[in-house]
Amino acid sequence: MDFAPHAVTALMGPSGCGKTTLLRCLNRIHEILPKARVEGKVSLDGEDVYDSGISAIELRRRVGMVFQRANPFPTMSIAGNVTAGLLSDVPNSARAQIVEKALRGAALWDEVKDKLNQPGTSLSGGQQQRLCIARALAVEPEVLLMDEPTSSLDPISTASVEDLMESLAKEYTIVVVTHNMQQAARVSNYSAFMLSGEDGIGHLIEMSETRQMFTKPTDPRTEDYITGRFG
Ligand SMILES: Nc1ncnc2c1ncn2[C@@H]1O[C@H](COP(=O)(O)OP(=O)(O)OP(=O)(O)O)[C@@H](O)[C@H]1O
Ligand SMILES: [Mg+2]
Repeated sequence: MDFAPHAVTALMGPSGCGKTTLLRCLNRIHEILPKARVEGKVSLDGEDVYDSGISAIELRRRVGMVFQRANPFPTMSIAGNVTAGLLSDVPNSARAQIVEKALRGAALWDEVKDKLNQPGTSLSGGQQQRLCIARALAVEPEVLLMDEPTSSLDPISTASVEDLMESLAKEYTIVVVTHNMQQAARVSNYSAFMLSGEDGIGHLIEMSETRQMFTKPTDPRTEDYITGRFG
């Protein structure tokens, strides 16, 4: 699969087809699971991210991740959450500016600018999800992986995160897992459809421009899924 730079690619497919698993392989976060192993190759800017010379921690700065459930660090303030991923040698004098930029990028600044020292967990669910997006943006990644980022949000918060994805795609490469067909159609430029085979392993069935996938899918299984016949 090629993920186009400065575009949104949606990963779709029924539960259990391996979307999260694939996403985790892209920034090597599966390596925190003791028994996980990976085959194949993932390249970023022409470099194999599994090359022994590349540190997983460094990679995860370049390939940020936003999870399905907002997971702000419970003991930290809003500002502290945003700067949590920064290296310790970033001086305090630079942090305030980074916090503002990331929170503006995540379309949260106006709502929290007067209470940056309050706990991150004091925010609403939608705000917490945008806080997690700000945390991911603060380290200035190249790629943003988002695993069902709106599945626990109400329609208003969902709309704001969707708007955000569109504007973030100007600067970042975004890969988003979604179960919501309308969302995929609204926010993504490219779409990939996956299914798990009888072996229980996820396979890519089809990948194309979203417009094409939703109007003229090439595989009948994609069409069945998009039109809601299964999954
Ligand atoms: N390519 C693969 N190789 C090995 N195991 C896989 C592969 N794809 C999926 N699996 C296994 O299938 C299970 C479900 O995968 P995963 O959680 O990634 O699915 P998902 O598509 O994210 O589902 P959901 O929509 O419910 O979040 C996991 O146990 C995972 O290890
Ligand atoms: Mg998943």
